[in-house]
This record gives sequence, structure tokens and C-alpha cells, in this order.
Amino acid sequence: MAAEIIRNHGIVAFPTETVYGLGASVFDEVAIERVFRAKGRPNDNPLIAHISKISQIRDLAIDVNRVAKQLIETFFPGALTIILKKTENVPIVATAGLETIAVRMPASVVARELIEFAGVPLVAPSANLSGRPSPTNWRAVLEDLDGKIDCILKGETSEFGIESTVVDTTTKTPLILRQGAVTLEMIRELFPYTKVLDEREMTPARSPGLRHQHYSPDAKVILIDSASDFQVGIGSGGETEAYIGLKPFELDFERQLICSDVEEYASLVFEFFRQCDRAGVKRIYCESVDEKGIGAALIDRLRRASER
Ligand code: TXA
Ligand code: MG
Repeated sequence: MAAEIIRNHGIVAFPTETVYGLGASVFDEVAIERVFRAKGRPNDNPLIAHISKISQIRDLAIDVNRVAKQLIETFFPGALTIILKKTENVPIVATAGLETIAVRMPASVVARELIEFAGVPLVAPSANLSGRPSPTNWRAVLEDLDGKIDCILKGETSEFGIESTVVDTTTKTPLILRQGAVTLEMIRELFPYTKVLDEREMTPARSPGLRHQHYSPDAKVILIDSASDFQVGIGSGGETEAYIGLKPFELDFERQLICSDVEEYASLVFEFFRQCDRAGVKRIYCESVDEKGIGAALIDRLRRASER
């Protein structure tokens, strides 16, 4: 049914282990344009092609070099997206004019079955309105996209809760454009010289998604580095303020979420942002974490959410 919708030029939201995606055939320009419109996504922000089997890379990419091959062998299927040179088959709307294509094979079985039955790779940005926190469950997709898309495949809550790691393999050494659940440390075990893109050195075409406002709830997000910042900076607590972090604080918040570890923090933060918006919360205080492992990706998302 969902796969049939895709074959008939439709657009379908589906679960993955990172966040929910909004899928269309990678070869269907009309459907891809609908994806951009439904999300209100700027058309200079390229999409990721999702595959269900490795052999599909041949239709999408050329020059799969040694680095790419090893990343594919180690991390596919999973929360890693790699950037490759694209073939002529891939329409330019999918890549926002770039000569490269982002490719990921999700670990989620539901996601791979949808791709398999559709018979083509699916472009799938996160299934949220552009700029809003990515959806980690089907209700969040409905909240943002009801009436704008053809179908939601209701699956489980996403395991990781933040988007995939994006690695450029067309550079001399692998370059991480977006951090995620496949961590810098994990990639450096294969390629010790792997770097994370420094946005101050960025040329606009490198990682177009980074230019846009991201992950923000309506509430103001405030990143706090230590208990002392927190005590000084805060007003009354109460129902218009909320807190998420690993350590409980003395101040009483009506709405607070204490996570048992950084993985849980990452997996719950976007849904917490949405819950705060539904409750009319005005300020969300987020405890900072160490920038290692998935903590690096979490901090990246929290920083972007707070830049407004
Ligand atoms: O976990 C994920 O990656 C989710 C799920 C649904 O798979 N998808 C996702 O898609 O987060 P989206 O569109 O929200 O984010 C894609 C990111 C953007 O930052 C975009 O700029 C970057 O990947 N990207 C896509 N194609 C690119 C390319 N050819 N070169 C550089 N960056 C690219
Ligand atoms: Mg997104």
C-alpha cells in the first residue's frame, strides 16, 4: 500500500532508527518537489537517498572509492550517510544542484521493506516542517504534516532520536559534515585523520543543510554549562520553564526530564521540545554534556536549537 503510493508519485512518511523520514522515489522529480513543499524546505538543501541493498548504490553514485567502500562495509545498514559523486540518473532537484549524492541504508526493517517494495531508492529528509525538531514518532509527523502528505507508516519510536552522521568521502580524508550516532571516535578507528567540518571554514556548497535554522521548538532553548550558570541565570521556574538533562537540580520545574545517560538524552530531546511547545513552555534549559561519543552530536543539535 505505502509502496504503491510511492510508485504512483506519492510521498510517504516512515520510521527509521534515527528519526522519521518523508520518502519519495529518488527518480521522481514531481514527488520530490512535493516533499520540499510539504516541509517548507529551502530548495538549496539536498536530500539523502535511502537504499535497501548495497547494489542500489550503482544507480546513484560513481567513483565509490576505498574510504567509501570501507565505511559501507562497516556501518551499513545504520546511522551513517556518505557523500559520493552522483550519476546522471539522479535528478538535480534531489541534490539541490550538487554533483554529489548522499546515500544511507537504514537499519530499520520497516524502512528497508518500504524501499524494497517501492523498488527504488527513496529520498527522505526528516519528516518535520523545515526548522522544527525532527520527529521521533509518528504523532510528531502528523502534528507537522497532516494533510500535506499521502501516508504515514506508523512504526516504533526511533531508537537514536537524532539524525544520521553525514560523511563526505569525496575529500582526501573523510570529513564529517553532520555528527550523529556513528561517532567521530568510531570513524577514526578506520580513518584516524577524519575531521569534523569547521563551519567557520565552510564554503556554502559543502554542507548546505548547515546554513538553515534547525531543530528549534517555539520555546527559547538555553544551553547551560554548569550548575552555577543555571542558578544565576534563572527566573522563577514554574510552568513556563522546563529543564532536560542528566542531573536533577534543586529548582523545581513543573516539566523536567532527567535522563539516565547521554544516549537517552539524545533520543528524547526532540520529543521533549515538542511536548514543551504543546504545553506553552517559553524557555527550555538544557544541560550541557561532554562532547564525546554521541554527546558531540547532541551538543551540536542543542547549540543550533539555541541559536535564535
Ligand atoms: O537520519 C537521517 O539522516 C534522516 C533519516 C530520515 O534518514 N534524514 C535526514 O535528512 O536527516 P535531512 O534532509 O533532514 O538532512 C540531510 C542532511 C542535510 O544537512 C543536507 O544538507 C545533507 O544531509 N546533505 C544531503 N545531501 C548532501 C550532499 N550531496 N552534500 C552535502 N550534504 C548533503
Ligand atoms: Mg532535517
